[in-house]
Amino acid sequence: MAGSPASLSGQDVGSFAYLTIKDRIPQILTRAIDTLHRHKSEFFEKHGEKGTEAEKKAISLLSKLRNELQTDKPIIPFVEKFVDTDIWNQYLEYQQSLLNENDGKPRWFYSPWLFVECYMYRRIHEAIIQSPPIDDFDVFKESKEQNFFESQESIVALCTHLQELVTAIKDLDENQLKDEFFRLLQISLWGNKCDLSLSGGETSSQKINIINSLEELKPLILVNDMEHLWSLLNNCKKTREKASITRVDIVLDNSGFELVTDLVLADFLLSSQLATEIHFYGKTIPWFVSDTTIHDFNWLIEQVKSSNHKWMSRCGVDWENYIKMGKWVYHDHIFWTLPHEFCVMSQVAPDLYAELQKAHLILFKGDLNYRKLTGDRKWEFTIPFHQALNGFHPAPLCSIRTLKAEIQVGLQPGQAEQYMASEPNWLTSGKYGIFQFDGPL
Ligand code: F6P
Ligand code: MG
Repeated sequence: MAGSPASLSGQDVGSFAYLTIKDRIPQILTRAIDTLHRHKSEFFEKHGEKGTEAEKKAISLLSKLRNELQTDKPIIPFVEKFVDTDIWNQYLEYQQSLLNENDGKPRWFYSPWLFVECYMYRRIHEAIIQSPPIDDFDVFKESKEQNFFESQESIVALCTHLQELVTAIKDLDENQLKDEFFRLLQISLWGNKCDLSLSGGETSSQKINIINSLEELKPLILVNDMEHLWSLLNNCKKTREKASITRVDIVLDNSGFELVTDLVLADFLLSSQLATEIHFYGKTIPWFVSDTTIHDFNWLIEQVKSSNHKWMSRCGVDWENYIKMGKWVYHDHIFWTLPHEFCVMSQVAPDLYAELQKAHLILFKGDLNYRKLTGDRKWEFTIPFHQALNGFHPAPLCSIRTLKAEIQVGLQPGQAEQYMASEPNWLTSGKYGIFQFDGPL
């Protein structure tokens, strides 16, 4: 975008972008290859020799990809036809057009980090769809499911909390309702620590009961616009005419524990009548290891429903009913797995932009969404969030994210320097979080 700062990139040796391309991404590829290996006999049982051949093919394509990356080869176009192939290849040409004549082709370490990282996950998908009959295999499914199972205790605690809350909700006064809203927002924020790409796909489950840790974690919220969210939704509730709607859209991030925290929040929004409809957005293809696909969404609700724990199972039943009644709506759109920053959404995916405009509030979960909201650029820490959004204002919105990339805007003067001095990894460790709002107050 003209007038915006440069993109984060692997060119900056030692930066998190550089370390991601150098170490984290090859690690993720190696784990994907191992996963395919481990499913060898399953593929054979299902498809016979063809399954074995497909597994070999997918592995060789992924090994080739890892080699291209590690030797900083040019980024090559996609060959396999898929719904987004043309848009992707056009984007590759666009990246080429940004280079000078003697720069050659875009390469892994010399291109914008956001672009090459998205490209890597899209290439994994290409390797899989080029390998029928295992072309619907999700190499990350196992780790997403493991994260869910390993977080069982916390999930039970959360579901129990929600059910107790819902039972008593009519007796809560406005202040108590606000406190509960803030509590569930924070749970959803810290749920974002459970992303599997930061741990190279290794489990990063939630073992402690997060509800008891909220007070302790509060000082780690660097930007806290929760009050704005409350005012907005409480105002909608008070002024809403009978039969009209308040719609909250949640752009989901990771499956497993984080998704449970988002669904708990979504349930509360309906039960408290702060909203009357929730729309969720997930990924069309496996993405950044743990991101939610429609399969993960349905799988998780089914797991919650079939739990032996009374309150957990009750949550699953309620959630399924919300979907049946159209109070919860799931959407997917290829835009979410393109490399584009959100400020171009209205041109690249006008239908999606128009859909988001119907929301009273949009919650963007997670780090990757933040990078796309702000264009993954080297903004000054004190630049207003509104400015970094670069014209992306479909509706009032809020980023709910733990910091896992070297980008943060909207801080107070001196705030960044203070963290930098004591904790060199403050931007990337996932320890800190934000609720950053943009919209009319
Ligand atoms: O690897 C890039 C990155 O944005 C990390 O910084 C982060 O660990 C991960 O991807 C995704 O995080 P999230 O699941 O919160 O979007
Ligand atoms: Mg994610």
